[in-house]
Amino acid sequence: HLLAADAAIVEHTFHVGNLSVVRLGQSQVITAVNGQFPGPKIEARDGDTVVVHVVNGSPYNLSIHWHGILQRLSSWADGPNMVSQCPIPAGGGRYTYRFNVSGQEGTLWWHAHASFLRATVYGALLLRPAPGASYPFFPRPHREATILLGEWWNASVVDVERQALLAGGAPNNSVALTINGLISASSEASPSPLLTVVRGRTYLLRIVNAALNYQLFFKVAGHNFTVVAADACYTDPYRTDVIVIAPGQTVDALLRADADPGRRYYMAAQVYQSLANATYSATATAVLSYHHHHQQRQETMMPSMPAFNDSAIAERFYASLTGLLLPKVPTVPLRVDTRMLVTFGLGVTPCAPAQTLCNRTLGSVAASMNNVSFQFPTPMSLLEAHMRGAPDGVYTRDFPDRPPVMFDFTGAAAAAASMAPTAKGTKVKPLRYNETVEVVLQNTAILGAENHPLHLHGFNFYVLAQGAGNFNAHRHVRAYNLVNPHQRNTVAVPAAGWAVIRFTADNPGVWIMHCHLDAHLPFGLAMAFEVEDGPTPDAVLPPPPPDYPQC
Ligand code: C2O
Repeated sequence: HLLAADAAIVEHTFHVGNLSVVRLGQSQVITAVNGQFPGPKIEARDGDTVVVHVVNGSPYNLSIHWHGILQRLSSWADGPNMVSQCPIPAGGGRYTYRFNVSGQEGTLWWHAHASFLRATVYGALLLRPAPGASYPFFPRPHREATILLGEWWNASVVDVERQALLAGGAPNNSVALTINGLISASSEASPSPLLTVVRGRTYLLRIVNAALNYQLFFKVAGHNFTVVAADACYTDPYRTDVIVIAPGQTVDALLRADADPGRRYYMAAQVYQSLANATYSATATAVLSYHHHHQQRQETMMPSMPAFNDSAIAERFYASLTGLLLPKVPTVPLRVDTRMLVTFGLGVTPCAPAQTLCNRTLGSVAASMNNVSFQFPTPMSLLEAHMRGAPDGVYTRDFPDRPPVMFDFTGAAAAAASMAPTAKGTKVKPLRYNETVEVVLQNTAILGAENHPLHLHGFNFYVLAQGAGNFNAHRHVRAYNLVNPHQRNTVAVPAAGWAVIRFTADNPGVWIMHCHLDAHLPFGLAMAFEVEDGPTPDAVLPPPPPDYPQC
């Protein structure tokens, strides 16, 4: 094993604590890692082992998730609070995350996975080819740039979340979008460039949507992109002038510096919302400039952005992505063992007897999947309970394969389904080792603006098809791409639309699937898969590490 000999241990210590920053003229204390915002960048190569010692000196209990890392046989290091672990206690608690990144290349990221803390606790996680291996695309990039898109609040994000939950869906709109933690506006005088290029060369942009609430359009004035990967899965090269990216998603794109070098160009991220009457519109910008060029005294060029509700652009972008067929990437499994239809959206749940701030007639807002509103367990994490043989009172193995009320946009069933009371519960779907699962994800939002970005931990899945309206098995099965569908870990299921995903349950442990719009997770838009151990010793989840946090 030549590669293994070259593999390295990439070690970091993350001190989580308070950081004072000034944004929009206002000084504010945020939670951040190592005094940096965004946090430190982790860079590893295929085959490496990443070790991160987290020391939580912040005032909040938290955990860190390595978004998109497959965590093969290392479910203990996945990070979602109360799913794979109890939180690392505030005021000095410690936990070491240790995982291998074999077989993964591209752009991923890490973020806090407890309450809204990921608004400021996040950073890039870049996976490069193993020593001696190279990218499967051309031309080779001359240099690269990491572009983290985020959101900013002029308030403590923990308070923002509390408000959103108390009021049952009160707006939690941020005040600005950010690029690499900075708020910039086209009115600002010559901000320093995020990327300076040499004419004729090609650059690799590693773009992450770390925003809490918004799917985004991203453009660079005067330039085109060639998309080469999505969620750290290689794609066939796709040429486009606009990138569409939902919270949780990443895109690797080549940019050729072929514009007039005497000018400067804005890169811009702008909110995309499919609902016509959405009111939030924000744009964040950063600058691309050329080396060794006398800049003419012209305004920095702004890209012309799509209308904020241009769903046709979003649909075309996602429909154009196909997976790059490589010898080391398995092709899409053609046999399906388990089929599920999962409806999801915002619904209502009856008020609990003691619940204040709840409409006694209508109930309160709860998000759900197949009408189950996910509740985080309290005594121990799902994974720990799984290891202990599922003791009573933590979770049940009855997550339904189908919704209780079949959904139909065209009929009264739509109203019935979206108004059907949701039941709170901690239900998982048990899976046998190596079984292949196909899930039709049906977004039942008929009033909501959002495409829900559904993120699955522990796996990449194939996106076989997606579309608008009702999923129709007879009509849509013919549209499945079973030749070269692209893989990813987060799919933006269109408002009032559907997507079909398929994956093989080859990784034992407990894996949450949830909406990556941050308020929707505490609302309950989540479920979990429990994958049993495989038959051979190399397919058995090892015991937890000695410093595994206890509740
Ligand atoms: Cu990036 Cu469970 O999240």
